[in-house]
Amino acid sequence: MRKKIVAGNWKMNTTPAEGVELLKGIAAQMSEVPQGVTMVVAPPFTHLSMVAEAAKGTGIHVSAQNCAAEAKGAYTGEVSAQMIASLGVEYVILGHSERRQYYGETSETLNKKMVQAYANNLIPIYCVGEKLEEREAGKHFDVVRSQVEEVVFNLTPEQFAKLVIAYEPVWAIGTGKTATSDQAQEIHAFIRGVLAEKFGAAAQDTVIQYGGSANPGNAAELFSKPDVDGGLIGGASLKAGDFIAVAQGFKA
Ligand code: PGA
Repeated sequence: MRKKIVAGNWKMNTTPAEGVELLKGIAAQMSEVPQGVTMVVAPPFTHLSMVAEAAKGTGIHVSAQNCAAEAKGAYTGEVSAQMIASLGVEYVILGHSERRQYYGETSETLNKKMVQAYANNLIPIYCVGEKLEEREAGKHFDVVRSQVEEVVFNLTPEQFAKLVIAYEPVWAIGTGKTATSDQAQEIHAFIRGVLAEKFGAAAQDTVIQYGGSANPGNAAELFSKPDVDGGLIGGASLKAGDFIAVAQGFKA
């Protein structure tokens, strides 16, 4: 059985105090999360350590939203994978479409970030997904294939075994426009097929999350699909009750 992972990407939201409150709110409702669903939160760097500390003993796992492409040194403003891992943080989101779009992250950068993440035992949540015009032009399979091949295919089988993938169509992120569950299933199965070309049967165990306006109202339908193994949740992860309700999509 594949793992199920629901991760909350807080993006550039919450102050440290609000972040700790949010974590506590989620922790208070963890007993309502269906068995076997791993819960992860990804706060901003400013309060990663505080949230990681508050998460101890709650069963909630913590992720960074990014890490530096280099190990250490004169890179003003950057945060290394080693710094992140030293806080007891277990995951790092890499290649989110907002990083690709606004901060020019390319496959070359992301390959370096992957190296840093694995060198420090962080589990990457590697994001892929097409833009609206790419889907409209029928290019979404090609785009996603390239994003997978150019980065994931460079991993060793041991590294690949730990990887989490998040499929997030850019047109669905923060827009209230979710992919239909059939659209999600179609491309998740496609991604798994591409992974299998390189890694064989191990691709059956890869967690592939859906992201893009997932919320308590549509999570059950999305998670009912065989290749949708969880969600990367933005807006709906900022309220503890909504985030828990999304995870409950696995029960329905
Ligand atoms: P959203 O964001 O749920 O607010 O659409 C998802 C994401 O970007 O990870």
